[in-house]
Amino acid sequence: MIDWTPTPEQVNTVLGALYEVQDALRRLWFALGLSEPLAGQPVWPWAQRLHGELMVFEPGQARRLLLCAAALAIAFPLMGLAVFWRRARWPGLVAAVALLAAAPWGVFGLLAGPALPSSFHVSDSGFSARSIVRGQAVYHQHCQRCHAADGGGEGPDAPALPMWPPRLNGRLLWQRLEGELWWRVRHGLQDRDGQTTMPGFAQALSEADTWAVLDFLQAQASGQTLAREGRWELPVRLPDAQVRCGVAPELRPLRSLQGQRLLVASGPGVALPLDPRVLAVGQGAALGSDCRVIEAEAADFQQALALVLGQPQDPARGKTPAQQLLVDRQGWLRARAPAGQVWSAADLVCRTGSVEARQPPSQAQDADPLGALVAAMDADPVAPRRGGVPH
Ligand code: HEC
Repeated sequence: MIDWTPTPEQVNTVLGALYEVQDALRRLWFALGLSEPLAGQPVWPWAQRLHGELMVFEPGQARRLLLCAAALAIAFPLMGLAVFWRRARWPGLVAAVALLAAAPWGVFGLLAGPALPSSFHVSDSGFSARSIVRGQAVYHQHCQRCHAADGGGEGPDAPALPMWPPRLNGRLLWQRLEGELWWRVRHGLQDRDGQTTMPGFAQALSEADTWAVLDFLQAQASGQTLAREGRWELPVRLPDAQVRCGVAPELRPLRSLQGQRLLVASGPGVALPLDPRVLAVGQGAALGSDCRVIEAEAADFQQALALVLGQPQDPARGKTPAQQLLVDRQGWLRARAPAGQVWSAADLVCRTGSVEARQPPSQAQDADPLGALVAAMDADPVAPRRGGVPH
């Protein structure tokens, strides 16, 4: 038992539980009237929180955390027994104290680290195309001068700063909790001596605009990673938009189609094949699509997709060919190919790396390219983390 090392999946579960317990604690504190709301959500009232990232590199810490949880889970009922059943008083107490003394509490010291009042805040923007496009405008107005148009950190004002802005078009955003990014954009950053390294934007930006600029940054970082490395190294969701499906008159968000695989056209006029394994989401008067993005959101949706695809935004550089995108049942963007082209295994640009070994034989690929891709995608579910938290 003591030699057991948790698998990555088990570590993920412990990470998720660690997050949930802390999140529940902040909600409980709020429900008891002990903390204030901020931007409509309960604050995290303490200066420290438990950071789980370390467990990814040292799974042994996850085991120690589980042992502490087990010690508490057994010791409390034992103490209860000791209180209510006189004959069990001394054995019960001794066993409870021994268990508590033996638990490896040191793990809490290792996992504790600084927290912010909005550490556990979650965005309510839904990663919608509208929010991403709004965030792009905010970024151009307020952030680009330091962080550069592509988020690379070499904006025109950057050389005069006490430190270079970090690259926002790679992994960094995925290493942070979104609530902590939100706080830093609103309240700025200081170095160890208390000198301002980045100004805060709480006066200039609404709370929603702050979430929007983070949505934009994430969309842009995904697209730039794809353009640079040919992969969505860190999974990104399909931007949300309102669609109309079949002849039903009511609107529904794309998010509500989660649970089904989607085949999405990145531009108008793309004919999507009707296939029972995927739900086709077209635009404009697309032929054969099951659902269509509504006219009022089509422009935002196309722009958001161009961002996550890393397609040039500059119209002078010419129109980029429309793409077809494959979305898995959990809502993650997984594969992309030029519209009208036959799918190939290489189009699966969001994968965990273990799928190569499981790729179908090439005859199967030739006979049914979409089926082969769907099988490869389903066999390789992604379990993304954000700031060490599965999400
Ligand atoms: C005056 C220049 C400047 C402007 C304007 C600016 N930033 Fe920054 N930003 C920086 C610098 C410098 C850092 C690194 C600060 C540090 O690590 O102490 C930074 C860091 C960041 C980070 C990383 C935070 C982290 O957790 O490591 C994010 C995200 C960010 N900026 C977003 C934005 C957004 C969004 C805007 C516009 C609303 C913006 N910045 C405007 C200079 C700027």
